[in-house]
Amino acid sequence: MSTYATFYQGKRVLVTGGLGFIGSSLSMALVQAGAQVTVLDSLVEHHGGNWQNIKTIRDQVEVNTHDMRQFADVCEAVKNKDYIFHLAGQVSHGDSMREPLSDLQINCVSSMNLVEACRQFNPSAITVYTSTRQVYGVPISLPVREDHPVLPVDVNGINKLAAEYYHLLYHRVYDVRSTVLRLTNTYGPRLQIKNDRQGFISVFVRKCLNNEPIKIFGDGTQLRDFNYIDDVVDALLLSLATPSCLGKVFNLGSKQHQSVLDLVKILQKISAVQYEIVPFPQDKKLIDIGDYYGDFSAFVERTGWQPKVDLADGLKQTLEYFKQYRSDYLS
Ligand SMILES: NC(=O)c1ccc[n+]([C@@H]2O[C@H](COP(=O)([O-])OP(=O)(O)OC[C@H]3O[C@@H](n4cnc5c(N)ncnc54)[C@H](O)[C@@H]3O)[C@@H](O)[C@H]2O)c1
Repeated sequence: MSTYATFYQGKRVLVTGGLGFIGSSLSMALVQAGAQVTVLDSLVEHHGGNWQNIKTIRDQVEVNTHDMRQFADVCEAVKNKDYIFHLAGQVSHGDSMREPLSDLQINCVSSMNLVEACRQFNPSAITVYTSTRQVYGVPISLPVREDHPVLPVDVNGINKLAAEYYHLLYHRVYDVRSTVLRLTNTYGPRLQIKNDRQGFISVFVRKCLNNEPIKIFGDGTQLRDFNYIDDVVDALLLSLATPSCLGKVFNLGSKQHQSVLDLVKILQKISAVQYEIVPFPQDKKLIDIGDYYGDFSAFVERTGWQPKVDLADGLKQTLEYFKQYRSDYLS
């Protein structure tokens, strides 16, 4: 069983993508744990970066708005840091197909810049990289373990996989230490809900807030596992504080796996939202992975992590947050 109660006290921590959904939530937890936090986020247009995400810790963190696609800026950012959480990324699967070069720059070039900057200027820093379950493609068996074949169905999955390999290679060859976590559908307060780029939960939350019908593509029976943001932050903090995780890849996941329709029915219990079932748009169908849920027992064995927030509670807290701070996210 691992713990991080005092692990981050006084440590200098860089959070890339720290104005985004997961990065800002992590930064808040790090401040609470006594870390000296630097956020690196260039507020890429249409992504989840939002100054409002860090308004409660704005005077307790340093913010660097340089872009990770620029090697020299990343070199400066990594200097004198003890730990790095590398969360800056392009998350939209659809955008990765429409704008593949942008995805390549953001997910691959930025990640290569990070590991190379560490090799040259701060080889003793420890990094956690947030990858995605999208690297597996269409599962051939469930639950998906880390040794399941990887065959991504979109450019995003390929680029995230390449970025994983940069971290693992630099770990093995140059002792630039990293752990890779493959996240699954993560939701909660501070999620980007303004546009459709952040996955279906963010769209559904916006529909609930605007009292517009949700469109479910296909038949809604696709299975997924969902993690509430607090559980993912807990996993990130545990992973970096657990030396036996270094150099390895771990799935996150949830004890329950539910269908998209199950999720919408939970939303219906806490809001007045309606839904309709519509055919899968062709562009989305081509990159859909069907049913997915992950086996996260390897991570549990090493860290003792357990996702605690069930979907109904998590969605309730999410909607409450966005009702209270609606103008910060939908203005
Ligand atoms: N949200 C999920 O369900 C999910 C699932 C799997 C993996 N992930 C991974 O977790 C990470 C964080 O995702 P998120 O949901 O918080 O996304 P987000 O869009 O809310 O945050 C990403 C942040 O990265 C910043 N960024 C992007 N490119 C940058 C660059 N070149 N330089 C500096 N900053 C840059 C953006 O401005 C944004 O604020 C991503 O790497 C994503 O691939 C997320």
